Amino acid sequence: MKDLSELQSQIESLKAEIREHAEKAANSKGLYELKKSFLDSKQGKLSALMKEMAQVPAEQKANFGKAVNEAKQWALGFFEDIDSKLKEKEMKLRYESEKIDISMPAKMQKKGNLHPITTVRNQLIDIFAGMGFSVYEGSEIENDYYNFTALNTPQDHPARDMQDTFYLSPEFLLRTQTSSGQIHVMENTKPPIKILSPGKVFRSDDDATHSPMFTQMEGLVVDEGITLSDLKGSLDTFVKKVFGDETTTRLRPSYFPFTEPSVEVDVSCFECGGKGCRLCKGTGWIEILGAGVVNKKVLENCGIDSSKYSGFAFGLGIERIAMLKYGINNIKMLFESDLRVLDQIDD
Ligand code: DAH
Repeated sequence: MKDLSELQSQIESLKAEIREHAEKAANSKGLYELKKSFLDSKQGKLSALMKEMAQVPAEQKANFGKAVNEAKQWALGFFEDIDSKLKEKEMKLRYESEKIDISMPAKMQKKGNLHPITTVRNQLIDIFAGMGFSVYEGSEIENDYYNFTALNTPQDHPARDMQDTFYLSPEFLLRTQTSSGQIHVMENTKPPIKILSPGKVFRSDDDATHSPMFTQMEGLVVDEGITLSDLKGSLDTFVKKVFGDETTTRLRPSYFPFTEPSVEVDVSCFECGGKGCRLCKGTGWIEILGAGVVNKKVLENCGIDSSKYSGFAFGLGIERIAMLKYGINNIKMLFESDLRVLDQIDD
């Protein structure tokens, strides 16, 4: 038989045990384990006291149960107090370890931007794609036929002198103009044709506005009833988008073997509005490209019936457009990859 006083002393010693160990608990997890060892309904030392109820005289049972329950209540509260203190301490430690100094200067990531030639090239493609043109990229190594002969510039034709050519062999050369793309497209496609051919071209030429390697963009339209006014219409739309809505075009007679008639296309000076300034050399106009109505001989060279179809073509220098657009006065700036220059040009 167990009596109440015996139980009381057992409870007191368990309480003392709880106090002693709980104070020493290093963290809330350890405390939880300790709590379980006293209060777990199956194995807890305090909970186990209830099992002894059977040995308690009947008249003491109620008090016995009450005493055990009170002890359990006390233990629950006690553990809770210590637990909240431990948790607070743990939280502080966590905040401390996860603290970041937001006043520290950030490590700047350098953001790259596209090269002005790529930017202008993409803009031009966008503009012409909006008018239904698609892109054909030819190859930089061409043979004499595609670069010259098929473009109505046979051997010994004086127009060959207009472009100082890098020959790789008597037959192969570095293309001097993207016009060679016209021939490939016309040989392989039936009209209607509406293409742009951007790419690098090469000429033995080197001064402030010329580089031995530069970038051109060719345009070609072939269909029934195409005239010079279709060319003018397309170019008007294009220059307004590149140089601003006020810009107008003017065609001047010129000569290219692959177009007849041939024209040089000028734009009204977007710097001075046509009044005359340094950029337009006082003329009010800036030359931007060569163009014309595709020579019948070129159509026939490619197997296109020139009595049924006609076309227009144009070729422009992307570096030239970029220099005008961004106010660059030496073409070398576009090839030197000097970040101090390139960083300023971000469209
Ligand atoms: N291929 C010429 C050049 O490099 C530019 C050119 C002029 C292209 C007239 C054309 C054109 O398509 O019709 O100087």
